[in-house]
Amino acid sequence: MGSAEPTLPRHTPPPVVRGLPLLGSTLEMAADPARFFARCYREYGQVFKVRVFGNELTVIAGAEAANFMGTREGKESLRSKEAWEPLVQEFGASKMLTAVDGELHKQLRAVMKRGFSKESIKGRYQEVLDITRTALLRDWKVGSKVPVVQAMQYLVVEQLGMVLTGQTPREYVQDIRTTILYILNVLVTRQRPKFLMKMPKYKRAKARMFELGRKMIQQYQDRVARGGAVAEEFKTLIDDVMEAHQRDPELIPAGDLVMLMTGPYVAGLDTVANTTSAIVYTVLKHPEVLARIHAEVDALYAKGRPVNEDEFMKELPALNGAIMETMRLYPIAVAQIRTANKDFMFGGHLIREGEMIYLGTAVPHFQSEFYADADKFDIDRYGKARAEHMQVGAYSPYGRGPHTCLGKSLAEVLLAMTMAEVFYNFDLELPSPDYVLKTKTAPTPGPSMSFKVRVKGRRVPGVAPPRAA
Ligand code: HEM
Repeated sequence: MGSAEPTLPRHTPPPVVRGLPLLGSTLEMAADPARFFARCYREYGQVFKVRVFGNELTVIAGAEAANFMGTREGKESLRSKEAWEPLVQEFGASKMLTAVDGELHKQLRAVMKRGFSKESIKGRYQEVLDITRTALLRDWKVGSKVPVVQAMQYLVVEQLGMVLTGQTPREYVQDIRTTILYILNVLVTRQRPKFLMKMPKYKRAKARMFELGRKMIQQYQDRVARGGAVAEEFKTLIDDVMEAHQRDPELIPAGDLVMLMTGPYVAGLDTVANTTSAIVYTVLKHPEVLARIHAEVDALYAKGRPVNEDEFMKELPALNGAIMETMRLYPIAVAQIRTANKDFMFGGHLIREGEMIYLGTAVPHFQSEFYADADKFDIDRYGKARAEHMQVGAYSPYGRGPHTCLGKSLAEVLLAMTMAEVFYNFDLELPSPDYVLKTKTAPTPGPSMSFKVRVKGRRVPGVAPPRAA
C-alpha cells in the first residue's frame, strides 16, 4: 500500500485534539461524545485525532464524512470487520451483518431486509399495540416513580419478541439486558476491560440468551414438522433466516443461527430504549410541545384505537417532530466505527490502511450551518416548509452508507406508537421543572439509568374503544 503514496496529493498529518496530560480527552468524550466531536470539528476541521482511554483515535467528521460513507470511494475505503469481529467470536459465529461488506453484506442484508422492516408487523400490528399498552399499564403505576430507561428496555424486548417470533420472552428480559450491556461495553464500544466477560453474571446471562435462541429455532422446526405453513405476509425474520439457512447453508451456517435469532435484541434494545427515554425527557421539559402532542393523540384516539401504523406516522406531526428533534440532539450513534480498507485521502489528510476510524456522522446535528439556533429544541424544523434535516449530510440518526440501520422503518413505527401510548395514557412529571437530564455513555449514549419520572395520573380511564366499522 505504501507504494501508492507518491501518487497521493500533498497532505499533512491530522491535528491531535489538545487534552489533559495522561487522560487526553477521555473525560470530555465520556461526558458528552456528540458535542465533544462537534466542538473538535469546529476547532480542528474534518479530520482529527483524539486521545481517549489510552488510545489515539482517528475521527473523520461532519456532513462530508456522512456523505463519504455512501459513495463508491467510501465503500471501497471503509470496512466493518474489525469493529464487530469480537462479537462474532463471542457468539462462535462465522459472520454477522454488521461485520461484513461488499457482496456478502448485500446477500445477508437481502435475507434479513423484510424481517427487520415495518413489513414484519403487518398482520401483527394490533398485537404489538396491545403488548405496548399492557406493559405500560403494568409498569407505569399511578403515583410511582418510573425508572424510565429500564421500563423502556422491558417494553422493547416484549415488542421485538412479538415482532420477531409472535411471542414475548419476558422471562429472558433480564438475561438479554445483561448480555447486551456486557457485549456493548466490552466488545463493541470497548469502554470496559475484557476480563468482565469472565464474570459469572455475564456467563449465566449469555447461556440463557443462547437458550432463548435455541428455543426460537426449535419452535420454528416443530412448527414446520407439524406442517404449519405460514402465509407469506405473516412470515417473520425467523422464517426468512431459517429458510435461507436451508437454501444456502454456506451463507447462513447452522453455527450462526443463535446469533441471528438474538441479534435483533442487540440491535434494537438500547437504541429504542435510550431514544424513547430521551423523548420522555425532551417532551416533558417543553410543556408547549407536550400540549400539542396531547391534542394530536387525543384527536387520533377519539376515533377509536388506531388500526394501522400510517396513523401514527402521518397524523401525529408534533409527536414525530419531537421524535426527530430528540434523535438530533440525543443521537444514540454518535459515530460509526470502521477500519481503513486502503490508504485514502480525506480533507487533505492521509488515512492509512488498517487505521481504526470513527465517522462522526452526528456532528452536523449540532451545527448552525444546518440547523437554525441549533441548541434549541424545535420540533417544527422537519416540516415541508423548513425541512432542515433534508440538507445533504445534515441528519444521520440511523447511520449512513451500506450499513444504515436495517430496522429504521420498524424503529420509526415502534417509536411513534410507544410515545403516542405513553403521552395519551399518562400524566407524567419530571423530578422538578428545572431538572436537567443526566446522561450516560456506556454502553451507548442516552439518559442515565437513574432518570425517573412520576406518574401523576392516568389521562384517560380504560382503553380507547375499537374503531367503529
Ligand atoms: C431508535 C432506534 C434505532 C437507532 C437510532 C438505530 C441506529 C442504527 C445505526 C446508527 C446503525 C448503523 C451502525 C453502523 O453503521 O455501524 C444501525 C444498524 C442496524 N440496525 Fe438500527 N437503530 C435503531 C433501531 C433498530 C431496530 C429496532 C432494529 C431491529 C430490530 C435495528 C436493526 C439494525 C440492524 C440489523 C443494523 C445493521 C445493518 C447493517 O449492518 O447492514 N435497529 N442502527
